[in-house]
Amino acid sequence: MRFEVLTIFPDMVDAAFRTGVTGRASGEGLIELDTVNIRDYSTNSYGSIDGYTYGGGAGMLMQCEPVYQAYEEAERRLDEKRGGSESQKDKKTRVIYMTPVGEVFDQAKAEELAGESELIFLCGHYEGIDERVIDEIVTDRISIGDYVLTGGELSALVVMDAVSRLIPGVLKNDESAEIESFNTGGLLEYPQYTRPDEWHGKRVPDILLSGDHGRVDNYRMHEMRRVTKEYRPDLYRKYMKDRGIY
Ligand code: ADE
Repeated sequence: MRFEVLTIFPDMVDAAFRTGVTGRASGEGLIELDTVNIRDYSTNSYGSIDGYTYGGGAGMLMQCEPVYQAYEEAERRLDEKRGGSESQKDKKTRVIYMTPVGEVFDQAKAEELAGESELIFLCGHYEGIDERVIDEIVTDRISIGDYVLTGGELSALVVMDAVSRLIPGVLKNDESAEIESFNTGGLLEYPQYTRPDEWHGKRVPDILLSGDHGRVDNYRMHEMRRVTKEYRPDLYRKYMKDRGIY
C-alpha cells in the first residue's frame, strides 16, 4: 500500500507515521508514505497558498492551483513507482479529502480502502479549500467524526493507521486484527488481563486461569455482549437486530 499525503505539515505526518507499528511496517516495505508540501506550489513570491473567501466570511481558503500542482506531483510519483507498466499507467488513484463534511469513517470503510494499492490524502487547513479543485480531483470525502479539527493531518493519520493494520504482515500476530473490536460481528472486545493474577486486591477472573478453553471462549463471548450493551447500546441494538433478535 502506498500513501501520498498532500499537506502543509509534512513533518507532522511523517513523524507520526514513522512511529510504532506503521513505522516498522514501512521499514519492512509493507506500506509506504510520501508527502507533498502544498506550500512548495505557491503561485506568489511570499509563499502563501491561501486567499479570502468570495462573498465574504471569516477566514482564508486554500487556493486551487497549489493544491492541484501538489496533486499532480503525487500522481507523477505514483506513476514512477508503478514502474511504467502500461496496464497501471492511467490508473485513477482514489483521492480522499479529509473533512467534517464527509462520510463518517468506520471499520467497513477501512476494509474497503485496504483493498486499494495506493491512496492520496488531501489535508485542508484554514476554513477549507476552494471547491473547484475539490470537484476536479477528489473521489471521496471522509470525516473521522462529528467535530472540527484544525486541519486534515490528524484525520488522515487515523485513516492510514486503521487501513495499515489490515494489510497482511503489518500486525505481527495474525490473529489480533481478527479478534479485536469491530471484527467480531459487531461486538466490542472483551476485557483482558496479564500478570500478576492479583493487583490492588483485584483478582483476574478464575475462569481465565482455569485452562478450560471452552469455558474461556464462552466467558469471553458473554463479556463481549455485556461490554457492548453497557458502553455502546447503539452497536448492541444493531448486533441484536442483525440476528433477528429484535
Ligand atoms: N478536518 C477537520 N475536521 C475533520 C474531521 N472531523 N474529520 C476529517 N477531517 C477533518
